[in-house]
Amino acid sequence: MIGDKVLIFEKIDSTNEYIKKNYQQLNNGTVVVAIEQTAGKGRKGRSWISPKGGLWFSIFIKPKNLKSAFFFTKLSSVTLIKVLKKYKINAQIKWPNDIFVNGKKLAGILTEGIYENSKPIALVIGIGININNEIPDELKNKAISLSKILQKNLHISGFLKLFLKRFNSYYLKYRKAPHTLTKVWKKNLIIKEGELIRYKNENYIIEKIENDYIIISNEVEKKKIFSIHELEWEENSGN
Ligand code: BTN
Repeated sequence: MIGDKVLIFEKIDSTNEYIKKNYQQLNNGTVVVAIEQTAGKGRKGRSWISPKGGLWFSIFIKPKNLKSAFFFTKLSSVTLIKVLKKYKINAQIKWPNDIFVNGKKLAGILTEGIYENSKPIALVIGIGININNEIPDELKNKAISLSKILQKNLHISGFLKLFLKRFNSYYLKYRKAPHTLTKVWKKNLIIKEGELIRYKNENYIIEKIENDYIIISNEVEKKKIFSIHELEWEENSGN
């Protein structure tokens, strides 16, 4: 089971990097946790600030189907939404996989491939959740922590336990039904197919939401959008 083995480090550069460097010694399903990351990585080459108090962890997984990276990213975001419900928090997924609460980012996911001779052989799913950590002033309008939302500190290990339990049960449930997982993922997205959206000051309808792009259209044209930042769906949506 995923998380049967959990390695905890006081301070490392990045749990994703640790797995990418040491995967040959790790069993499938190993989870690596860092109390603090000194070089946490975000998507698109961004850095991920990871002080004490947050939950920074990565899962090493050797799936049968290595084209399934996005399946695991969706599985992680849908699991996070479900676990947050246990804390009475209604979170949503900002496409493709950021976890948002009231217009602010609570958690992020970075899934990476591990390659041997240019062939993918395994995946690392890196998850960062602002739990009790202080959000730096310059990010306070963009990011939030669970302790800020709930006005109390939480047990970080308790959150991880709940996450892993749900992740395993959803994995069993959805691995044979990835389309059902996609449906659940779409249901939890902030923007939805069929909704109106603004793009370059024009109105469009969201026709289709895919893993890597969104198709929008109006009477004049159809467009493929690759970054959520190009779209506006409401005033002050903070996207
Ligand atoms: C993002 O939203 O940009 C993704 C953030 C992913 C951060 C996590 S923290 C644990 C793991 N280790 C890393 O270096 N990054 C991921």
